[in-house]
Amino acid sequence: MHQKAMDLSSKEVAVLSFLSGIRDYIEEDQVSPKGLDRKETSSAISWLEAKGLIDVIRSEEIAYELSQEGARYLSVGLPEEQLYLLLESQSAVSLPDLTAKMNATDVRIGLAQLAKFGIRPSEGIISFKSVPQFHEEMERRKSFLEAISRQDFKDLDSSLLEHFRKRGGLLVEKRKTRRKMKINEPGRAALQESGQGDRVEDLTPEIIASGAWRERGFRSFDLTAPSEKFSGGYYHPMTILISRVKEIFTSMGFSEMPGHYIETAGWNMDALFIPQDHPAREMQDTFYVTSKKKVEMEFPEIIGISRKVHERGFGKYPGWGYRFNEDESRRLLLRTHTTVSTIRYLYTHRDSPQAVFSVEKVFRHESTDWTHLAELHQIEGAYYGKDANLSTLKSLMRNFYTQMGFKNIKFIPSYYPYTEPSMDAVAIVNGKAVELGGSGIFRPEVTRPIGLREPVIAWGMGLERVAMLFFGLPDIRQLYRSDLEWLKNYPIKN
Ligand code: PHE
Repeated sequence: MHQKAMDLSSKEVAVLSFLSGIRDYIEEDQVSPKGLDRKETSSAISWLEAKGLIDVIRSEEIAYELSQEGARYLSVGLPEEQLYLLLESQSAVSLPDLTAKMNATDVRIGLAQLAKFGIRPSEGIISFKSVPQFHEEMERRKSFLEAISRQDFKDLDSSLLEHFRKRGGLLVEKRKTRRKMKINEPGRAALQESGQGDRVEDLTPEIIASGAWRERGFRSFDLTAPSEKFSGGYYHPMTILISRVKEIFTSMGFSEMPGHYIETAGWNMDALFIPQDHPAREMQDTFYVTSKKKVEMEFPEIIGISRKVHERGFGKYPGWGYRFNEDESRRLLLRTHTTVSTIRYLYTHRDSPQAVFSVEKVFRHESTDWTHLAELHQIEGAYYGKDANLSTLKSLMRNFYTQMGFKNIKFIPSYYPYTEPSMDAVAIVNGKAVELGGSGIFRPEVTRPIGLREPVIAWGMGLERVAMLFFGLPDIRQLYRSDLEWLKNYPIKN
């Protein structure tokens, strides 16, 4: 045996001495030396095996985990249950109304599952029918999923396992290798030898100060031992997506404009003709920032300009006609959209044409869930020039979204306080309509008072929603979970 390999770490000694008290093979999860956690135990076992000090027998076992979809259903209820409850409360619902109330995938699955209970739509309407034992069945399904999420496979119901395996998508099958092991003769000898003294393994300030290392000596390391594989660094998927977006904008002749995380309400909202009592300004929608220092606002004259327009309008355009509060304009906030960068950029670049974009973070005081984040990236594109009109806007957006990979784009009317007309772009992806973002022509109340003579067209959209489509994620939060497994294996790499 290799001389150095016999030099045991304290963890290996702990595992060996635990095993030395047991005669027969023992399952890995039964090996529980004092002071070691599962990971340390498992790694010590691997080392002992490599050093030939224990005999190991491996066997394969199939285990299950919940997929993200499965975990979601465990918390919000299975689609068939959601649908059943909805029907119970409304007695009958038309299929189009259903999709307004539940997400489309859930509706599809819910319908398929309820059909097995004899509840089927007829002529586009699905009606409630009481199913005896329905709730009991749902409880059984839920406790089954719960057991899987606890990794408790002891009393798994085989008919439910069959049911969920057939359904697909909720369970992830994992092959696990089980190990059982036994100390062998060389192991016993090594354990005896290791009794020669506890060598220093971790050099601590105490050991150095007390000089204890002199008597104890150091444990040697086998530098030739194989180590874990290292993989190189990767770009975060969002970084890749962001560079892609920037490339597209640049290829269209747009240049990137600067911006700030912290803005004043004066720029973020007032300058965009958003009335001061607009609901989006409430504390529950916007993160306000407090500052002990007096705020020096960039281009403070915008306050006076906004005040006039909000109170009395501009030219033939009536204002909102309320009393404008200048202190409100000075309030600091985390910008809620990047349209704030557009308006300030144009304020200082009044010569047309201008074509600008940004891909930056914005903040919304929302609770996070599988489709919402409080901190997200927004894409903003804006064009200022004589030929800025609705058809230019549509063709710019079509061009942009096509390059992003969305072929089938539709526009629907929408509303933003600073654009008129306003429209939202919708992409049809796998037959489903996905909202991409807002757009419109800036209102004269926004552009004229700050000296912009030509029209401005702009569009904006949240990037993480798009990332979900790109990377096929059922849950938006996965993007920022630092899940190494996913980060190493996400589908798009450059
Ligand atoms: N700022 C809007 C939002 O945050 C999007 C938008 C941008 C709308 C430009 C119109 C014009 O959703």
